[in-house]
Amino acid sequence: MAWEAVADLDQLEEGDMMLVHLGGEPICVIRLYEDEAVAVHNTCTHQQQPLNEGYLQEDDTLICPAHNSCFDLRTGAPSGVPAVDPIPTYACKIEDDAIWVDFEQQTNDAAIPHKPYH
Ligand code: FES
Repeated sequence: MAWEAVADLDQLEEGDMMLVHLGGEPICVIRLYEDEAVAVHNTCTHQQQPLNEGYLQEDDTLICPAHNSCFDLRTGAPSGVPAVDPIPTYACKIEDDAIWVDFEQQTNDAAIPHKPYH
């Protein structure tokens, strides 16, 4: 598997996010700007809650809805407790009116979080 079109551009407005599954893993795709989208593992590294139910911030971070861990969407790094480990980030691009993700191109060295229990 390589680049895969996960959404048409008109499916995801700026500031929207969607859950997709690639390689058996839940991936959260976020359209940050008209010309930029990012893809991260959908599982919070604190207690494995789904991040696609979280809140996008103006500084391009995502807050987990469970206990408010905050992750940088470009690096995967948490910016404060309770999460201490980064979330995996993946190659993502906008091209040909679609959003593409290459699940095999992880762009940081974060460990794959445990899958959600629900
Ligand atoms: S599960 Fe995300 S902050 Fe606790």
